[in-house]
Amino acid sequence: MQSRELVTEWLDVLPADHVDAIRSRRDLEMINFFMGNERWILRQLELWPEIDCVVELGAGTGQLISRLSEKFPEKSCIAIDLIERPAGVAAGVEWRRQDALDFQLASGRTMVIANLFLHHLPTAQLAKLFTNISAADALICVEPLRTRLSLTMASLIYPWVNAVTQHDMIASIRAGFIAGELAECAPASWQWDESPHPFGGLRSVAKMLP
Ligand SMILES: C[S@@+](CC[C@H](N)C(=O)[O-])C[C@H]1O[C@@H](n2cnc3c(N)ncnc32)[C@H](O)[C@@H]1O
Repeated sequence: MQSRELVTEWLDVLPADHVDAIRSRRDLEMINFFMGNERWILRQLELWPEIDCVVELGAGTGQLISRLSEKFPEKSCIAIDLIERPAGVAAGVEWRRQDALDFQLASGRTMVIANLFLHHLPTAQLAKLFTNISAADALICVEPLRTRLSLTMASLIYPWVNAVTQHDMIASIRAGFIAGELAECAPASWQWDESPHPFGGLRSVAKMLP
């Protein structure tokens, strides 16, 4: 496929309490379930017992960070998103309503996670974001895989999702990544390990080496 193409996703401009936005966020939970993204991220975190703090960028409904906070109550859990704290986010989660690009990570023993978020950013902004979070121990993320097969698979679930999700699925795949593209935005000292998943996700673990 062609290079990345970014267009505005409808979910990003609808008010968070709009009925179509609420439905689309629920669709996303269903898509995440089928892609297995959250289960995979939770499994990765089990491999990093030394981590004290987890920061999720673009946390959406807060479902993933809430699960995490309940599973690892000893870790501090921070969620970042442009929207206000949604109802139902676990009490142990600190919700920060802010642009992820303004987030600066000061200390280590921290894991940054992102699920279906990084593709919102143009390549130059990704490089800035990665620099801002360089003090973390690692970044774990799942992003749409930019392939024709992903587009075909997305169209197969049209009957079960609303118009916002239909639009944003295609937009996010076109803005997504193929293997190697995310790593190119990262500082050279990061060790990037990624694998495409058959259900259309590019799963990455990036370790920040000292
Ligand atoms: C496709 S949704 C994914 C949400 C969630 N991670 C999930 O998997 O269900 C992308 C999320 O990123 C948020 N977002 C978009 N641009 C952002 C930015 N610059 N800073 C912080 N959050 C942003 C949106 O509000 C939205 O909740």
